[in-house]
Amino acid sequence: MSDQVPVLESALDLELVHRGKVRDVYAVDNETLLMVASDRVSAFDVVLPQPIPHKGEVLTLVTAWWLEQLDGSVPHHLIAVDPDRIVALHPGLAVSQDSWARRAMLVRRTKPVLVECVVRGYISGSAWREYERGGTLAGEALPAGLRESQRLDPPIFSPATKAEQGEHDENMTFGRMKEVLGDELADRLRDLSLRIYAHGRDVAEKSDIILADTKFEFGLDGAGELLLIDEVLTPDSSRFWPKESYGIGRGQPSLDKQPIRDWLDGLEGWDKSPPPPDLPPEVVQAASDRYAQVFERLTGTPLAEYRPPRYREDR
Ligand SMILES: Nc1ncnc2c1ncn2[C@@H]1O[C@H](COP(=O)(O)OP(=O)(O)OP(=O)(O)O)[C@@H](O)[C@H]1O
Ligand SMILES: [Mg+2]
Repeated sequence: MSDQVPVLESALDLELVHRGKVRDVYAVDNETLLMVASDRVSAFDVVLPQPIPHKGEVLTLVTAWWLEQLDGSVPHHLIAVDPDRIVALHPGLAVSQDSWARRAMLVRRTKPVLVECVVRGYISGSAWREYERGGTLAGEALPAGLRESQRLDPPIFSPATKAEQGEHDENMTFGRMKEVLGDELADRLRDLSLRIYAHGRDVAEKSDIILADTKFEFGLDGAGELLLIDEVLTPDSSRFWPKESYGIGRGQPSLDKQPIRDWLDGLEGWDKSPPPPDLPPEVVQAASDRYAQVFERLTGTPLAEYRPPRYREDR
């Protein structure tokens, strides 16, 4: 594994434009952002006090790997992940390289579309809860008699509002999405999302990973071009289930966060609101190992050996 120092919070000498639960986003110039994936981990929407070594690296490199699989078919925001390439484009970043290498993506700055494009190929989580209540998903009726974790064919697009910091995203109907964004953009986003998900589900299946659902974000660049932005098909933005333990009629273990969830579930006296408990070192290590395993299982390459592609040589 690379000898990265775990990062709970990055501190680069650049304008910080956003600090989310996981990523610290900096402006490099008017057109370019450096998105630094920290090693923060959240459970029940609360950020835990301990960083998970290599988690940020996994999120960033999984995104780079997927974009490599998709390249050509979907315009996206990624300019570079390879640290030398990033420094070649922005020499001022060389001094801080140790703190962001392999966990940062250099991306084209966009105006994000304020709708989260969720695609579900299996019914789980909030979708399962909505279905249990009234037989619907994103307000639209689904066939009767579905069971928890059952595969949905065809997969379903179920957009959500992009909540302000600290708020929960809320499912919205496709009709509502059209009102907010206009028919043309809404249709494009749905079609693109379904297409990327279908490709991702097929690719993950080859590694015996079920890509149950995922969330995409899109943005418009200065020229009005629609780009796939943010992280792509990562364990944080998707539900990855190991095929060997899959079964319908119940919830599924998660490939990445299960050691943390299990430990928190066994803990008494935490009501799942801040402040969160400290994670013991063995739980941190187990979670870190899980992220590295997800990377290797999905891509076929050990994390330490993966060399990100050099995007957009022409720019
Ligand atoms: N190319 C891009 N241009 C502009 N903004 C982007 C781009 N790519 C990603 N973003 C934004 O950067 C942020 C990434 O931060 P992160 O995922 O950590 O936080 P979040 O999703 O806003 O909030 P949280 O994860 O805390 O719920 C998101 O708000 C995302 O919309
Ligand atoms: Mg996010």
